[in-house]
Amino acid sequence: MNRFTTITDLRQYFLPLRSTHTIGLVPTMGALHKGHLQLVENARQENDLVIASIFVNPVQFNNPDDLARYPRTLEDDCQQLESVGCDAVFAPSVDEMYPEQPTLRLNFGELETVMEGAFRPGHFNGVGLVVAKLFNIVQPNRAYFGQKDLQQVAVVRRLIRDLSFPVELVRCPIIRETAGLAMSSRNRNLTADERNQAPALFEALNMAHDLLREGESIVQVKAAVDSFFNSRPHFRLEYLEIANADTMQPVDEVLAPGQTAICLAAHLGKVRLIDNLVF
Ligand code: PAJ
Repeated sequence: MNRFTTITDLRQYFLPLRSTHTIGLVPTMGALHKGHLQLVENARQENDLVIASIFVNPVQFNNPDDLARYPRTLEDDCQQLESVGCDAVFAPSVDEMYPEQPTLRLNFGELETVMEGAFRPGHFNGVGLVVAKLFNIVQPNRAYFGQKDLQQVAVVRRLIRDLSFPVELVRCPIIRETAGLAMSSRNRNLTADERNQAPALFEALNMAHDLLREGESIVQVKAAVDSFFNSRPHFRLEYLEIANADTMQPVDEVLAPGQTAICLAAHLGKVRLIDNLVF
């Protein structure tokens, strides 16, 4: 597996290959787990060359403690990528990606007003900037993103449309641990006790799903989830939203199959976790 840390080296490597090979890009911030590896495996099946990026993007962190605590495990990450047949990894420094503070600001309109957009001001500007840079640097045919970050998928979809990137966006399913906890790099920051409690997030999503299927109203479902977390004092629920899975805008009633998303964010100790269920 080839490792690149500079934009110039990476561009030189891909330049002669571009006309004869399709390229799949998997953007990550490292601390890789099976959720990330699944993206690489999917990219492996659909492209001649697969490149993963590992870059903890400071611009998308609205909380300095979260950035400082973010796990960094580059050597282990590279071994995992190699084991699933990744061809190249791009792991640039912050200076390489941002020689100067970027002045460009991206605004994703109504996506900024709900859920991750509302609770993490500036987050999607940072995601949009780094993904646009990666698209320009790698020029992939396809880019792979996880449903784990459903609103991020919507942001990237808009980015591709608004800037006419010739990139096909591939959304991949959420990979969970056996107890149902969605895999996440931030799970490494949970204590053993918190880790045992964390599957309650998925339990809450399933409870909401069941209630909606039984015909309960969205107001009733939100109240039920509130009381679910009120009886679990280790959690602080930030939001629970029932939304259109494409636009991420809140809905008043359940939509056609595959179009409704139940999304939540909750703090467990020092860790903020998000999860969702599309049905
Ligand atoms: P990161 O959190 O490292 O996630 C990288 C990709 O892996 C994202 O597309 C995310 O949705 C996906 N992913 C994470 N956990 C997953 C799981 N349990 N199942 C399926 N997919 C999962 O998301 C980011 O990094 C950054 O915002 C990035 C896009 C790299 C821009 O900096």
